[in-house]
Amino acid sequence: MTMARRDALAALAGVAATTCAAAATPGAMRAGAGSADGLNALAAAKGRRFGSCVAWSPPAANRGSFANPAYAALLTRDCGLLVAENEMKWRALRPSATRFDFARFDAIMAWATAHGLPVRGHNLLWHQPKWMPAWEETHDFGARPAIAAAALLTEHVTTVCRRYGTRIASYDVVNEAVDPADATLYQTALSRALGGAAPTLDLAFHTARRAAPHAQLVYNDYMSWEPDNARHRAGVLTLLEGFRARGVPVDALGVQSHLVTQGTGMSAAALEPEWRRFLDAVTAMGYDLVITELDVRDNRLPADPIVRDRGVADYTRAYLDIMLAYPRLRDILVWGMTDRYSWIEGFEPRKDGVRRRPCPYDDRFAPKPMRAAIAAALTAAPARA
Ligand code: XIL
Repeated sequence: MTMARRDALAALAGVAATTCAAAATPGAMRAGAGSADGLNALAAAKGRRFGSCVAWSPPAANRGSFANPAYAALLTRDCGLLVAENEMKWRALRPSATRFDFARFDAIMAWATAHGLPVRGHNLLWHQPKWMPAWEETHDFGARPAIAAAALLTEHVTTVCRRYGTRIASYDVVNEAVDPADATLYQTALSRALGGAAPTLDLAFHTARRAAPHAQLVYNDYMSWEPDNARHRAGVLTLLEGFRARGVPVDALGVQSHLVTQGTGMSAAALEPEWRRFLDAVTAMGYDLVITELDVRDNRLPADPIVRDRGVADYTRAYLDIMLAYPRLRDILVWGMTDRYSWIEGFEPRKDGVRRRPCPYDDRFAPKPMRAAIAAALTAAPARA
């Protein structure tokens, strides 16, 4: 990138004044949310919060939505925090380069606010071509592409952050920028026009800090503790080191936690040392941790739901025991409360064709051993200051 380009970007983002740490967030710890026997109540007793994703739907639709009373009952029982499953993504908010459509996300915000539930922002930039809106990949950035791309990104981040103000106290500013195949950063049409992936991610964070100085700013990714994630973890560590070296305002790593059971052959204990090395490296750089999207793919477990549910619960418990040992972890969110609406069934169905069971509640809204495992892990967890 030329100096002139860099200067133009810096001017747009106002990067000079933006390296301060996130301030404490008023109203962020509403221990009152959720019922007395709910998971958030157990979390709150330890200075933590429990939450889930939620979708938009028309009233009473059979969806994982606040407008579905059966799903809403799970949210109000167990959650002290929500996140929109899809409704804040560019694909949802940006029908075109010149338009925003906030209707669905606003409806989620209104419901959450009416129920005293804070909402995380997910996300301000999903840095992969396949997850950006289709128009973005063919967008004409004009004769001065770096300036046009920086303006588009800056406008997006600023418009979203300003609209919700202090109602959103934590953002996944950048989602999934590291390609697990080779640990490099993805490129999109936006980042190519802007002059590279790293300047694009940096600009997103600097802009978010300026537009939402109160908020926790998170880099969110799915590098997990299973052995086939080693390269992905290395790429994320490199990215996090780069953020620190360049003075980019990133407060936390979002550990999505889309876990995958390893069958009965490999125990969770075998994964622990490597995983702790990763978490230790992340926290040593001063990053906080957030579990942003917990669910479990019941791979290499037999079809029998009783055996599978036990395997998923034990795996979840072992994972959470490690994570909860880190005082830098405050918030734990699952990616859906019930198997009925989980994205996993569409994303990676089981090879034997039986339905996935990735969530704390089953497809008839009954609590599963996974919910009990989360409750037990929270009960056993050390209290955070
Ligand atoms: C998923 C949603 O659950 C699906 O409905 C959608 O089709 C694709 O996105 N990592 C993320 C989430 O950061 O935004 C993804 O959500 C799941 C993986």
